[in-house]
Amino acid sequence: MKNELLKGDDLANMYKYAIIGFGGLGKKHLMNLVKLQSERGDFCLSAICGTTLEQAQKGVELNLGTVDVSSFDFSSCNFYDDYKDMFKKEKLDFVLSVLPTYLHEEVAVYALNEGVHVFSEKPMALSVESCQRMIEAAKANKKHLMIGQCLRFHPAYAKLKQYIDSLCYGKVRYATFERNSQMPLWTWNNWILDSDKSGGCILDMHIHDVDLINWFFGMPDSITGHMGNSKISRESISSTYHYDNFAVDTRADWSLPQTYPFKAICRVDFDEASVVVENDTLYVYKDNETFSEAFDPEEAFVYELKAFIEQVIDSKECDITSPESVSDSVNMALKEIQAAQKGEDVVM
Ligand SMILES: NC(=O)c1ccc[n+]([C@@H]2O[C@H](COP(=O)([O-])OP(=O)(O)OC[C@H]3O[C@@H](n4cnc5c(N)ncnc54)[C@H](O)[C@@H]3O)[C@@H](O)[C@H]2O)c1
Repeated sequence: MKNELLKGDDLANMYKYAIIGFGGLGKKHLMNLVKLQSERGDFCLSAICGTTLEQAQKGVELNLGTVDVSSFDFSSCNFYDDYKDMFKKEKLDFVLSVLPTYLHEEVAVYALNEGVHVFSEKPMALSVESCQRMIEAAKANKKHLMIGQCLRFHPAYAKLKQYIDSLCYGKVRYATFERNSQMPLWTWNNWILDSDKSGGCILDMHIHDVDLINWFFGMPDSITGHMGNSKISRESISSTYHYDNFAVDTRADWSLPQTYPFKAICRVDFDEASVVVENDTLYVYKDNETFSEAFDPEEAFVYELKAFIEQVIDSKECDITSPESVSDSVNMALKEIQAAQKGEDVVM
């Protein structure tokens, strides 16, 4: 798809954005933004930071599939290797920060202080204090900050959330969440395998389930955890979240063999049905009936970006996510680590 709208006077009326961090997910976000851009016609890419034109043009293989950027015309895009330099030279309305996790806070706070709206990837940050500083910077500058906990925008999980909130199958009796993958070996300088930089499997991959648990059920009363560190630090976690009338068991492991396919499954048992989301398909099991619905996994990524763009350009509130709520998810994940390290329940 070409960037035809980027010529002449049109450009002056466009909202301009930059992508900071153009690895696997940065490229994926660009291709999804191109779809939204062609539907709306009121925003365009001005700059990319953290890569060269030559590297930018290359496609990338992820556990989420191949990202092919060869149809994108980068001729109107400026490239930078230093984000501070980029902010000096570009007039931007919003940025996508798709950086290794240890840079999330630094870059989000800098961009917000520059008066720019920020979409920042998950996990929000490596500590609750960092999350708090990001929230404060957004408030102080009156700018939007959205964190890419994309599963809140996945239609299968959105449907499950409706079942929970509406009580249409009765109350929740129990839930279980599992997310496993081969060891991730595809990131820049293998930053993801260093748990000081990524938070390990718990803050990087398991955070998706933690955020769903937080979104579905809120804060638990207490958490028990057991962490694995045999191949690499913080490679796996098994935990139980204790709520008033039910428990939620979780398991995540990213140290499985390279041939092991990425798999995510969750089951919520209600009084009158059990509902499973396995990868991108939702299954409902009742005593005398079962049905399923498959969804396009790309929709979660498109819908979260759409919600962010609508906040920024249309001033449309988003009631699906907030930085405060996502910060609670980071807190919950860190409490799992604490529970595992202490070998005892941590009360929230
Ligand atoms: N929502 C999801 O499902 C999902 C999936 C994958 C990744 N992510 C998140 O996205 C973020 C990026 O992950 P990724 O897989 O794209 O990683 P990656 O290693 O593929 O890409 C990171 C990019 O950042 C660049 N970079 C490093 N330091 C930089 C700096 N100072 N300035 C500019 N660029 C810099 C690197 O060159 C690299 O291109 C992580 O926080 C990760 O957790 C989310």
